Amino acid sequence: MLSPENNARLTKVSQGTPMGMLMRRYWTPVTFSSEVTVRDGPPIRVRLFGEDLVLFRDTSGSLGLIADQCPHCLASMFFGRNEDNGLRCVYHGLKFDVTGACTDLPCVPPVAP
Ligand code: FES
Repeated sequence: MLSPENNARLTKVSQGTPMGMLMRRYWTPVTFSSEVTVRDGPPIRVRLFGEDLVLFRDTSGSLGLIADQCPHCLASMFFGRNEDNGLRCVYHGLKFDVTGACTDLPCVPPVAP
């Protein structure tokens, strides 16, 4: 019989846990591709390994899986606008591509050279 500590080690998969780090090394199916067929269509919610994520298909047809919480002020990216190769947060307008990289910062004034 497993001790409570070993049971927790084998069953907890959130970020930073031993099993969570192991599971994140492997491909994991999250949904059917038929759930996100429309380019620039609405994102869907995915919960994987204790993380809330959103899945979307961008303008070029690539799939993106990013955190549901916007890194700026934690607004839900599920309500984001999927447009022009990225998912734009509806709160302040930061835009993220399918890799999770921020590609537009409309709320930040340009820096003078
Ligand atoms: S909360 Fe998303 S851009 Fe500010």
